[in-house]
Amino acid sequence: MRLFRPDVDRLTAYTPGEQPQESGWVKLNTNENPYPPSPRVLEAIERVASSRLHVYPDPVGTSFRKAAAELLNVEPDWILPANGSDENLTLLLRTFADPGELVCAPYPSYILYETLAAIQGAAFSRILLNPDWSWPLPACREQIENCKLLFIPNPNSPSGTFWDQETVTGLVPPRGVLVLDEAYGDFADRSDAIKILSSDVGGRVVVTRSFSKSYSLAGLRFGYAVAHPDLIRGMRKVKDSYNCDALSLAGAEAALHDQDWMLANREKIIATRGRLATALEDLGFDVTPSQANFVWTTHAERDHKQLYEQLKAGRILVRYMQFPDCIGETTIDGLRISIGRNEEIDQLLTALNTLV
Ligand SMILES: Cc1ncc(COP(=O)(O)O)c(C=O)c1O
Repeated sequence: MRLFRPDVDRLTAYTPGEQPQESGWVKLNTNENPYPPSPRVLEAIERVASSRLHVYPDPVGTSFRKAAAELLNVEPDWILPANGSDENLTLLLRTFADPGELVCAPYPSYILYETLAAIQGAAFSRILLNPDWSWPLPACREQIENCKLLFIPNPNSPSGTFWDQETVTGLVPPRGVLVLDEAYGDFADRSDAIKILSSDVGGRVVVTRSFSKSYSLAGLRFGYAVAHPDLIRGMRKVKDSYNCDALSLAGAEAALHDQDWMLANREKIIATRGRLATALEDLGFDVTPSQANFVWTTHAERDHKQLYEQLKAGRILVRYMQFPDCIGETTIDGLRISIGRNEEIDQLLTALNTLV
């Protein structure tokens, strides 16, 4: 007797980065923010915890949506809060991709898109990026024209590279929806994603944002989508009634109100990123210029998996990533290193100094 849906039976589950629960690790593998969230977040959470846990949260997050709308200069009905960006990605698949319809994403990029498409029973096609992480235009035109949903992480992971407004606008599927996944958007030099929403193609674009990275709230699980209210209305139909709990709604709203805190951490991370890139290059690594809170790095003469393992043996975690079947049927592999505190990056560099 077969109990599982065939799509689930066939599925290879997505494997997130390692999350050791004990202290004593230099953890540079899942792009968390090394700095704590704004103290206003804790105050807001404590307020809610002491008075509002016995009732259900606001199912549509009215107060958060108002705050986000003010920040972005849109109306609140353009905003959909979710339990992390990952939940919004799931909602996008449920809303827009029927089983069998085509979903695309660049490759190498965030592998979760493929897993979510498989769960939905949608067809998935990788758009193989050029070795310099640019789009293979016009070769990928046909894929884009036929796809119902195209996910683009911008900045991209694992490369940290950023595609400009003109490139991204030209990639909106003519009969589908473009998702601009801006999980790392706050670290980019500039982002025009919200402007794209009011352009000619804006009615077919959804921007997703995360509180896990720039706002230091990976443990809270919160993100939001921004799109034309017609699209948001459809997505809202398929979400759980109470997809965001009262604590995360209050915490995220407080975080949003403390832009200075987030921007100060952003500056520190960008400064450390520059220092790390230079030091890695001095050690003989190639470093892809990054606009995110991590760098993608390779070494022509060293085995990346072995380096990852040697670092791990010294309780330093980075992410070893391997992407088979890239353009030219080559396998790309390398290390994705999250930007930690200066002391953590110093520990990493000291260890690498002895290893390369
Ligand atoms: C490109 C990309 N999108 C989305 C996410 C998930 O964000 P969240 O923690 O808000 O679910 C990640 C997490 O690493 C990511 O790398």
